Amino acid sequence: MNAPNHSEHSELEGRTVAHSAVTLSQVIMPVHTGPGGVYAHGGEIIKLMDTAAGLTALRHAHSPVVTLRVEGINFLQPIRVGNYVTVTAKLTYTSQSSMEIQVRVTAEHVMKEKVWEALTAYFIFVALGEDGKPKKVPPLIVQTDEERRLFEAGEERYHTCRIDDHSKILCAID
Ligand SMILES: CC(C)(COP(=O)(O)OP(=O)(O)OC[C@H]1O[C@@H](n2cnc3c(N)ncnc32)[C@H](O)[C@@H]1OP(=O)(O)O)[C@@H](O)C(=O)NCCC(=O)NCCS
Repeated sequence: MNAPNHSEHSELEGRTVAHSAVTLSQVIMPVHTGPGGVYAHGGEIIKLMDTAAGLTALRHAHSPVVTLRVEGINFLQPIRVGNYVTVTAKLTYTSQSSMEIQVRVTAEHVMKEKVWEALTAYFIFVALGEDGKPKKVPPLIVQTDEERRLFEAGEERYHTCRIDDHSKILCAID
């Protein structure tokens, strides 16, 4: 995992994307597989992703955070026992109390030195105050063209992802 920079920030001073980015890695062992004992249990991968995203949100918000929604989990390539999985999480967009975190998963067949992109998903976390209610988070400082592009895409999703009158969430992830 990246080393945090514990600089003296005031509560709502902006923080960069790099400030809160997180990398977690794990070898898939038999205990992480589904009943067949060959492929990674999807829930184990999602748990790693949620943990990495939660750490990112925590580093940015400096207050307790909860997972609100997850978008775009599609396992398109199998991950097997023995594969070395790396999860990277970085903030793409922040609003008032909500934070969108892009989580990428790569897997490696160590013996063959073959690495592939397993999936990318977006986790939305909300920071909570001591009263358990949503709490304002610091603004996100974007520094590169890629960070700006992701921020604009996240902002579009923030305005698109809403719940309709039948409690159905309307959202489109490209
Ligand atoms: C997260 C939670 C506190 C939000 O409560 P809420 O009453 O919807 O609060 P608000 O309406 O003030 O919304 C808070 C933020 O979430 C955003 N939000 C709410 N519903 C959303 C949705 N369906 N999609 C995207 N964002 C949403 C709001 O836009 C707001 O963001 P902003 O402050 O940046 O503008 C509440 O839903 C909750 O406690 N959920 C359970 C979380 C949890 O326990 N997770 C662990 C997994 S089991």
